[in-house]
Amino acid sequence: MKDWSKLKDLVQRGKPRAMYDREIHGFLSTLAKEHFSDQADLRERFIAAFDLWLNGSRLNALGGISAFPHRDFCVGVTHFLDDLHQMNGERIVVVQGDYRYHWRLRPQIVMRTPESLAPGDVLILAMPFPSLGDVHPRMQEFLDRALQLKVPVHVDSAWYGCTRGIHFDYDHPAIRSIGFSLSKGLGLGANRIGVRYSRERTNGPITILNDHSMWINVLLWYGIKAIEEFGSDYLWNKYGARYDEAVKELKLVPTKAIHLARELDAHGNLHPVGLRTVLRVLKGDLILEEIWRSRDDLNAQPLDPKSSALSN
Ligand SMILES: Cc1ncc(COP(=O)(O)O)c(C=O)c1O
Repeated sequence: MKDWSKLKDLVQRGKPRAMYDREIHGFLSTLAKEHFSDQADLRERFIAAFDLWLNGSRLNALGGISAFPHRDFCVGVTHFLDDLHQMNGERIVVVQGDYRYHWRLRPQIVMRTPESLAPGDVLILAMPFPSLGDVHPRMQEFLDRALQLKVPVHVDSAWYGCTRGIHFDYDHPAIRSIGFSLSKGLGLGANRIGVRYSRERTNGPITILNDHSMWINVLLWYGIKAIEEFGSDYLWNKYGARYDEAVKELKLVPTKAIHLARELDAHGNLHPVGLRTVLRVLKGDLILEEIWRSRDDLNAQPLDPKSSALSN
């Protein structure tokens, strides 16, 4: 018998966290014994494996990737964003609700709508869009307007891979590059393993890193092995049935991203909530009683050595 009232308490309000899968992390820890550093073509093998992972999804349909023939290793999508910020400075504009990192980097960063986009801008836009787990409802308008204004668009696809039902064609002429990673799709955020796909290669940190053999062998190796072992759509295949059960029982609105649902407040507004812990408990990866016990430990007040409680 599942205790849904306790499980409801594990729904993450605030920032929903990407999935973490014990099996994947257990597997990674077995790789440390293998000697990988002098393997030939590690970078090329990684890029090829990543491409298969991206295109191997049966739950999503991505089109137009072949229009981006230049593929570079990057240290997660964050590196892809760092490169864009470093090379374009204050020309970078973003969309309200996108990845908070942009605001951490530049608190006064300019936010645009399709109407306020302006010549000279360089737009970064996430697809899937965080907190929605889906294509931004105004994505097409952003792209068409950007094309009219000759504004280059760079797509942050960090959330791709932990989704089902995403259908998107990247081959819009406004889109110049795309960043992908295994952070959300395989829950490897603490490792940052990514690929940038570009129409044309421009100078910048990622290009230099790839042209001058400055990549990070251990990340390439982990990426190849994790993709070979777990493949595309792993999280939805493993946790999907539990996800459907949880949103039904907890009266949440489902999204296309495995770790995310939406909750209706008293005013009829939907808020993103995280399901990572709930799913891990339902799948037996975490034990509910242990979570509660550790919460009790955390909540317990430490004894004050000077208090009378000690002398009693
Ligand atoms: C929209 C978005 N972009 C990028 C990232 C970071 O991706 P990575 O872990 O590949 O650096 C995140 C992680 O939270 C994100 O939510």
